[in-house]
Amino acid sequence: MEFFIDTANLEEIKSLSTWGVVDGVTTNPSLIAKEGKSQKEIITAITEIIDGPISAEVIATDFDGMISEGQELAKIHSNIVIKVPLTIAGLQATKWFTENNIKTNVTLAFSANQALLAAKNGATYVSPFIGRLDDIGQTGMDLIREIRAIYDNYGFTTKILAASIRHTDHVKEAAIVGADVSTIPYKVLTQLVKHPLTDSGLEQFLADHAKSK
Ligand code: G3P
Repeated sequence: MEFFIDTANLEEIKSLSTWGVVDGVTTNPSLIAKEGKSQKEIITAITEIIDGPISAEVIATDFDGMISEGQELAKIHSNIVIKVPLTIAGLQATKWFTENNIKTNVTLAFSANQALLAAKNGATYVSPFIGRLDDIGQTGMDLIREIRAIYDNYGFTTKILAASIRHTDHVKEAAIVGADVSTIPYKVLTQLVKHPLTDSGLEQFLADHAKSK
């Protein structure tokens, strides 16, 4: 399973990049807006830290606008993945980017049928938002399970990118049900490593070692 970091914060990306477990980065307009710099500046800086897929989202909602923004973003670095929303124009743009060898991440996926459409148009990734489904009383993880079954039935190669991850159990469950990638916020990724028995066990080992000759 691949791990992406779901942030546009360069300090967070730098700090997690040293762990050896980060394969890529996802951003969105809300994450970029928090940083007080332009999307181009931030995405360029991320390419200098992480050597892996970096999702940069278009703002345009029409086909032509998505294509021209996506082409500009793709020029920044060969690792850029163009993130488009799951709309008709987004699906049309996905097909165009696929035919022009530009990678895509089709975002804001909330149903298995939407994910099926993204795969049919050759999306590199589809991003089901599991936390936002949980927020409205549905079980986000069921969506990942359904998409996995559909993609496996037909051999679609679109990668399932579990997004809107809110806690460590989301990461575990996404791995169990077969998501290809989890995009994880900084706070959740740092929590993955922690267990109280690891801390107390280590403390005990060090105390015992101090007593040994
Ligand atoms: O990058 C998209 C996604 O992960 C958003 O998460 O927490 O805003 O639902 P959230």
